[in-house]
Amino acid sequence: MTSIIEKRLSLHQCLAQREQENDALRSQNLQLQALATLGSATCMIAHEINNLLTPLTTYAALAVQNPDDAELAKKVLDKTVRNCQRASKIMQSVLAMANGQKHQREETCVKTLVEQVFACLCRDLSKDGITVQTHVPDDLRVACVPVQIEQVLMNLILNAREAMLPGGGVLKLTAATDAAHVVIVVSDTGRGIPTEHLASIFRPFFTTKVGKERPAGSGTGIGLAFCRRIVDAHGGEISVASQVSQGSAFTIRLPRNPPHDRP
Ligand SMILES: Nc1ncnc2c1ncn2[C@@H]1O[C@H](COP(=O)(O)OP(=O)(O)OP(=O)(O)O)[C@@H](O)[C@H]1O
Ligand SMILES: [Mg+2]
Repeated sequence: MTSIIEKRLSLHQCLAQREQENDALRSQNLQLQALATLGSATCMIAHEINNLLTPLTTYAALAVQNPDDAELAKKVLDKTVRNCQRASKIMQSVLAMANGQKHQREETCVKTLVEQVFACLCRDLSKDGITVQTHVPDDLRVACVPVQIEQVLMNLILNAREAMLPGGGVLKLTAATDAAHVVIVVSDTGRGIPTEHLASIFRPFFTTKVGKERPAGSGTGIGLAFCRRIVDAHGGEISVASQVSQGSAFTIRLPRNPPHDRP
């Protein structure tokens, strides 16, 4: 009899200890999740700010080499103000996302989004032999977090540009609607994506940009992963069609009547 009571007591003690260990693991897990969110936010901020600062540095260096060119100096200062404002908006937006805050979607003019992104590129694409064609109806609007969709477009345009270097080509950006979506397509006539890479390009840290493909430094491989995250958070989809040596087309579908509680 005594032995049964002792056994029960020991089992109870054992259970209490396991429950304590479980609680400790749960709180450790929460801390790790918070750290992972912070890591991912930091990574996104660094990546997007780099997208804005790298071309700005080159542009500013050109102005420094031409101290008598007042017009160039004015253009560089205008770009600096614009890109710094954008960087600050991106930081606020990513930090708010990391804090779990919901963003208010705004009915936004697609043409304005596109113009904002091109205005942040410092180098005129025609200098790289790239012709830009945009077909966006003036009155096309979409419910979105503008700074985030601008991030997506910026990453797609930079990728398209890099895919067409050094020979140049055509960068086309079109927007239209179908029954349920606003559909934006960014296409290029660049090197294309080998079939065996297609399944990997949206994976974080997948990049082929080492050495020749990006002389200014290797790629981090997170641009498209962030694009997918942002588009998913809008309840939309991003997809790609590509053929080696022919070019690539990235299609974003954003719902015309989005669910209210995201991103
Ligand atoms: N338009 C494109 N044409 C050809 N390949 C592309 C294109 N867009 C993306 N890729 C391929 O997908 C890979 C991943 O793109 P992603 O934008 O995520 O990273 P990245 O451009 O390599 O680096 P970064 O993080 O600086 O953007 C690229 O390295 C490239 O191989
Ligand atoms: Mg990229």
